[in-house]
Amino acid sequence: MTGTDETCILPAMHMDSEKQSLVAAARKAAGNAYAPYSKFRVGAALRTTDGETVTGFNIENVSYGLTLCAERAAMVRALCEGHQNFSALALCAGTDKPATPCGACRQFLAEFLPSETPVFYAALPEGSQIFETTLGELLPNGFVLK
Ligand code: THU
Repeated sequence: MTGTDETCILPAMHMDSEKQSLVAAARKAAGNAYAPYSKFRVGAALRTTDGETVTGFNIENVSYGLTLCAERAAMVRALCEGHQNFSALALCAGTDKPATPCGACRQFLAEFLPSETPVFYAALPEGSQIFETTLGELLPNGFVLK
């Protein structure tokens, strides 16, 4: 663990630019979302521990329940590309209000992200405030097999 904030697994000196660039990637991904039913676009961006960025967006379906959230799309893409270790996640909702990952995505992400992983989230307009939390704060007491 590095940085002054003990929940931060990114080096503090890189945190701000990491945050900005990861949110920018999520924002760009939101622009490609396939959301013809809700019109609610979401983009996600994962930073791998080797410095790569993998993005995803929500992909809706006419049967609604098959809709894939942006966070899960990004994670599935990253895993299929061979990435296994991640240092941060960013989420950008395509509206003027920020959104946090839904409950299902929190549990899905917890399979692959340590609880101290930073999660950044912001609204669509560039320059919007970037909020920060961690996966552990978003999903306390997530399900585990015991
Ligand atoms: N959505 C996401 O992409 N991520 C979330 O964490 C919550 C919801 C998407 C699913 C659907 O396409 C749209 O937002 C409205 O619910």
